[in-house]
Amino acid sequence: MPVPETPSIPAAILAILNPTDSRIVLDRRGSTVWHVRCGQARYAVKLGYPIPATEHWDGADWTALAPAREGVVLQELGSTTATYGVWAQGTWNVQPWHPGTDLQSRWTPHRTRHAPSRPPLPDVLACADALGELHDKGYAHGDVQPAHFILSDGDGPVQAALIDLALVGGAAIPARFDFPYRGCLVHYEAPEIARRVLESGEATPTREADVYGLGATLFMAATGWRHVEYPDDAPRTAQRRAVVDRSHRPVNIAGPLGRLVDDMLRPDPRDRPTMREVRGTLASETR
Ligand SMILES: Nc1ncnc2c1ncn2[C@@H]1O[C@H](COP(=O)(O)OP(=O)(O)O)[C@@H](O)[C@H]1O
Ligand SMILES: [Mg+2]
Repeated sequence: MPVPETPSIPAAILAILNPTDSRIVLDRRGSTVWHVRCGQARYAVKLGYPIPATEHWDGADWTALAPAREGVVLQELGSTTATYGVWAQGTWNVQPWHPGTDLQSRWTPHRTRHAPSRPPLPDVLACADALGELHDKGYAHGDVQPAHFILSDGDGPVQAALIDLALVGGAAIPARFDFPYRGCLVHYEAPEIARRVLESGEATPTREADVYGLGATLFMAATGWRHVEYPDDAPRTAQRRAVVDRSHRPVNIAGPLGRLVDDMLRPDPRDRPTMREVRGTLASETR
């Protein structure tokens, strides 16, 4: 299997940012992300390129367009810092860096087998606020997962940033940067989305599916378990079949968080709470 070469930051981006320091934070098929410092300012630089097909995996072209698509969304949301453009193999974006710790890592101490403890509700409220604010503006995120919530460190009130807006639904995307929504990471995918993707290869991100995704996210971060049981090495189609055909695992989280996650994971999207209701419940529990 050929080892793909790690790309470097394209010259056009270096010319804009003139970085004093940069380090790779993620390098995987189709996407490389750097943390870049420019004096006091810190940015995330994302580079997208196509994934060539091999005997081990399917090819994909949308990964080349994802950073520009996200850049469009960030600007539509009012970011004056976010920029995007095209490079030889795809597209890129520059966006503000959100310092902190992702939800899955932050809750590691609560998942210890011998002395599990209740994850803090203020963390949950911070995540719910981040997603709820996006919903209030008329968008659906489409790719809710623990790695996409970055929670602030330190002593002040916790805040969460919701990142990776490449699959957001509801934005006006220029045709040259747009691509169909083909579902998200199945570990956080709502059954109605999984069903549509199995039937037609495509779906539409919805706020109801985001609520399910947040339920699956909180369940994973609190317990280490996926919402639905399937083997680690199950092909994606088999994962989606399991999400459609099986009930989610029993929610074994104590207290109000357990009740909330159970409600968010309801199979019928109409039975799930809205993010406004979720935030209301959490606000009264944390008061
Ligand atoms: N704006 C940001 N602030 C802080 N970390 C970020 C930011 N954007 C990306 N990252 C880091 O890079 C990782 C991958 O970014 P993501 O936007 O999810 O890219 P991908 O499209 O490859 O999934 C994230 O999990 C996070 O660790
Ligand atoms: Mg991501």
